[in-house]
Amino acid sequence: MNIRRVVQADLPVFFEQQIDPEGNRMSAVGPRQRGDFDAHWTKILADPSIAIRTIEQDGRVAGYVGCFHRDGRLEVMYWLGRAFWGQGIASGALSTFLAEETRRPILARIAKRNPASIRVVEKCGFKRTGEDIFTNRAGESVEEYLYEL
Ligand SMILES: CC(C)(COP(=O)(O)OP(=O)(O)OC[C@H]1O[C@@H](n2cnc3c(N)ncnc32)[C@H](O)[C@@H]1OP(=O)(O)O)[C@@H](O)C(=O)NCCC(=O)NCCS
Repeated sequence: MNIRRVVQADLPVFFEQQIDPEGNRMSAVGPRQRGDFDAHWTKILADPSIAIRTIEQDGRVAGYVGCFHRDGRLEVMYWLGRAFWGQGIASGALSTFLAEETRRPILARIAKRNPASIRVVEKCGFKRTGEDIFTNRAGESVEEYLYEL
């Protein structure tokens, strides 16, 4: 596994990965449709305060890892295509990213229904600081844990 700068050719792969129903069930955020996805990634790649990296596994685009500001606080984000789950790739990628991205504190917000992602942040040293409820793109209220490193 390695992480590298995002290139335009990665975006169609990210698009397919983020519409995966099982990934959306876990993360509870809901997929972006094409126009929304394109606008979102154009903003991400143009924003110097956002650090974002493509995760590669054996030369294939496995997903992305990065961080962005929400309400003035830095927060991690990551997503892997289903073919890459269960191999330690997210934990390795987040840990590698956090060695590059040294700004702290850095938060994680994870749906309670997403034990794999909870495990990923805990393996990377994040501590649980609280709980919250967010409204996802489908208008559903989702319980989440708050973590901080
Ligand atoms: C969540 C996600 C990033 C995990 O990626 P991954 O590469 O499979 O994660 P890793 O293999 O590094 O680690 C997963 C850990 O969770 C554990 N795990 C997986 N499913 C689990 C479950 N149902 N219950 C408890 N632990 C579970 C694994 O055993 C592993 O822990 P271990 O190393 O101690 O054995 C990936 O499934 C994904 O991208 N999902 C869709 C999007 C998403 O949820 N993004 C995160 C939003 S906060």
